[in-house]
Amino acid sequence: MKTIIIFAGAASIYGLADIKAASKNSDFALQFVETPEMAKYISSDDLKEVSVKNDIKDEDSIVVPLNEYWVTWCKKNVKRCRISTKAFKASRSKKYLADCMMQHGLPSNRYEITSNVKKIVSDKQKVYIIKPDNQYSGHGVKIISALNYHNIDKYLIDASIVDEKVKKVLDITASPSICFEFIDGVEYSADVFFFQGKISVVRVCKKYRTIIDNAPCVLAYVLEEPTELIRRYLELWCNALFDYDNISFGQFDFISPTSVSNVLVPIDFSCRVGGGISELLRYHGGNLYRDSLEVLFGEKCIANKGNFQNVFQLNFIPNTMGTLINDNFLINDLQAIKLKKLGDRIDRLDPSANNRLAICLGDNFSEAYYKKIKDRLLIGSQYIKHDEV
Ligand SMILES: Nc1ncnc2c1ncn2[C@@H]1O[C@H](COP(=O)(O)OP(=O)(O)O)[C@@H](O)[C@H]1O
Ligand SMILES: [Mg+2]
Repeated sequence: MKTIIIFAGAASIYGLADIKAASKNSDFALQFVETPEMAKYISSDDLKEVSVKNDIKDEDSIVVPLNEYWVTWCKKNVKRCRISTKAFKASRSKKYLADCMMQHGLPSNRYEITSNVKKIVSDKQKVYIIKPDNQYSGHGVKIISALNYHNIDKYLIDASIVDEKVKKVLDITASPSICFEFIDGVEYSADVFFFQGKISVVRVCKKYRTIIDNAPCVLAYVLEEPTELIRRYLELWCNALFDYDNISFGQFDFISPTSVSNVLVPIDFSCRVGGGISELLRYHGGNLYRDSLEVLFGEKCIANKGNFQNVFQLNFIPNTMGTLINDNFLINDLQAIKLKKLGDRIDRLDPSANNRLAICLGDNFSEAYYKKIKDRLLIGSQYIKHDEV
């Protein structure tokens, strides 16, 4: 009898039959579950593999969450999954993640109690980043420096506001704000699969960022082959967070600081896969989830198909609010996906994936190319008409 592993949150991944096949010669069988609300976003081919429900009764299976709804479900049904308390806690507290890294002697993102920050910022010219300790998707994230420290009280309050839907998904009632030291450097995000002491890297993306209204926003993701340094750190972080027998995905955001070499600092973690890059992964052509599972289930690892390196996604982001009146901003020669329609309202300047106007996908990324086109990714009043007051 094979042990059943249920990937819960199937709308977050794709190519499910392919992924399922990765375990066929192992002692495990993969199944997929999604909620009715999210199942709407699954392709008809993938939907054939999915059991649509809000709850999982089958007591003999091991549940692996793929999104925050299912992370919450797993936290409440902890015996049904193989995820350590540390990994759950680090998923839901950036402060806990930093403490845990420090306890393991690993570089960590330093933080400060908020009442001290205003003074430190104005006195020492230090830069901080305010974040809600337990939310996600860029909500409430603001950079605070000597230039804008008069905003600190407003930012702290904004970061602590939790939307009703988020309260339900995360099963929280409040959201403490916390100030982390801002780390200058290059940011990456990565997904890994942790399987009984072994780790397989699903994907690594370099992020190209800008700052809009004091919030960091990703303008481009580039799929990169993980370096040895990145692999080593991913392993160290996973070993610090997971117990040996665990079975879970892990998503990390981390920074390679400009001030030191050969050091990576994790700033954000969750025991699920990363979001916001599904178009990029599909464009890549292979199935990186299947590839990463094949490594662990002992199958021959199929080389990543397509152009693994330098495949990129450009995000077109509003930098003004109003109504979208012209969407003629896309870049010719790249595959484009429009995410907002003419007449749609842009009423927030927030860095979340939900606020993107469109994305473009392409191959052969280079820094020189990015420099040339990056200003075209910020969409202003030429395309978005201000409301009359
Ligand atoms: N300490 C930091 N230094 C520099 N940039 C940061 C820092 N913490 C967060 N950021 C930026 O803010 C973004 C959102 O923060 P993150 O901790 O990932 O929160 P979320 O859970 O909302 O994704 C990051 O992707 C990164 O660009
Ligand atoms: Mg993050």
